[in-house]
Amino acid sequence: MDRRMRIGILTAGGDCPGLNAAIRGIGKTAILQYGMEVYGISSGFLGLINNDYIRLDETLLSGILTHGGTILGTSREKPFSDDLQQPNEITKPKLMKKHYEEMRLDCLVCIGGNGTQKTAGLMAEEGLNIIGIPKTIDNDVWGTDSTFGFDSAVNIATEAIDRLHTTANSHKRIMVIEVMGHNAGWIALYSGIAGGGDVILIPEIEYEDKIVADYLVQRAYKKKSSSIVVIAEGIRADYKKKRAAGYIARMIQERTGIETRETILGYIQRGGTPSPMDRVLATQYGAYAAELIAEKKFGVMVALRDNTITSVSLGEVGGKTRTVNSDHPLIKQGRFMDTCFGDCKI
Ligand code: F6P
Repeated sequence: MDRRMRIGILTAGGDCPGLNAAIRGIGKTAILQYGMEVYGISSGFLGLINNDYIRLDETLLSGILTHGGTILGTSREKPFSDDLQQPNEITKPKLMKKHYEEMRLDCLVCIGGNGTQKTAGLMAEEGLNIIGIPKTIDNDVWGTDSTFGFDSAVNIATEAIDRLHTTANSHKRIMVIEVMGHNAGWIALYSGIAGGGDVILIPEIEYEDKIVADYLVQRAYKKKSSSIVVIAEGIRADYKKKRAAGYIARMIQERTGIETRETILGYIQRGGTPSPMDRVLATQYGAYAAELIAEKKFGVMVALRDNTITSVSLGEVGGKTRTVNSDHPLIKQGRFMDTCFGDCKI
């Protein structure tokens, strides 16, 4: 008789809301629907290197749906990019393979962003059975229309912008808010539109200081006594790693003469309870991963495409990033409503 299938789950990269919902989705489906044994590996790929894991049963998987962070812990360990390794030393990828085999795993589910999916693809090339699940607040994983974590981050960023409006209005100021997103502008674009940002700057659209400043001066002429400027952290690349918010706020105040303040939202937008949308997406991704394992379909990343949960080859995903197209419908809509993206002449 076939033995029960054994699966491992790890969460890697920055944490985000919905990780526990995904772990629960995989774990409960694997145990209850398919009778599999489930193991949780600690702290991302570090746990596989150090052989650090626990058995996940129904009790451990209960009550975690609404919790932020990850019950497994996470790390930014990149096992395939270690140049410091000695020639005779057992390499991290070899250690991971050894521990995978010692655990007698039939599949390892790697939940993470771009870096994690790349590592997952390399492990699949090493002959391990791997399934990826895309997560990140940045929404920049190639091959899927959406990652869980993004919706929660947009909710938090939008609430922050709503709050900044009141101070902006009361003091007749320009308020600059910097949101995360790595090198992509998804969070800035969505929270900027949802929060009624007057200026939205994203890495995908080249902007000019003068255009931003002139636009804000024009608003002041039109008796719009305050303005909100939403910027993605990724635009800071231009300023030799200085925070974008500080540069932009100073630049605006100097050029417009209007009192300007900056806020960096930071890790607040990555923490806490997942939104209902993220809980649903993470649960669907998790359940689908378990289904793929039962069908022995490995070497793929679970994905959302055209509102359907599907999968895409890990080989296709690795090393790519999904950024915002400059003709994205939200940008077009914003332009119709006179939102400034820093490139529009006024
Ligand atoms: O990828 C998620 C993210 O929060 C990015 O938006 C941000 O650039 C980065 O992680 C921050 O990384 P760390 O947690 O290592 O400071």
